Amino acid sequence: MGTIAGAILADRIAGRDNPHAEVFSPHRLSLRGVPTLLLQNAQVAKDLVGDRLTPPDAQDTEDVPVDSARILPDATGKKGVYRDRSGTLHAVSLRCTHLGCLLRFNGAERSWDCPCHGSRFDVDGAVLEGPAVRPLSPRQP
Ligand code: FES
Repeated sequence: MGTIAGAILADRIAGRDNPHAEVFSPHRLSLRGVPTLLLQNAQVAKDLVGDRLTPPDAQDTEDVPVDSARILPDATGKKGVYRDRSGTLHAVSLRCTHLGCLLRFNGAERSWDCPCHGSRFDVDGAVLEGPAVRPLSPRQP
């Protein structure tokens, strides 16, 4: 996107037409796209607020099965706790470091995934995929 943006801007400054300019125009939205835009933003708002109202799904680390994760209460709200195959617990803050949505565990990938914009973190909080660039805060299991 950066390369295309650079080419469009260079052409615009030079007074040339660019075949991609219309596709990337900030004015390209039509009323036809408004319902989809509203639905997508409503879903993000639901994820941002709704997950905060959902109770933790376990109360103690004893409730975390091997190779699984649970959301436990924490002094700051909620934390995500994963128990690996050797029995070691990995605990992290569930607040996404991008814009603060609460993460959900992805059992297939063993990662904490953000429902808002798609950031992913490993069980120790390292960033696997952005847009987040900062790791999750560690927590005491
Ligand atoms: S809030 Fe998590 S990726 Fe944006």
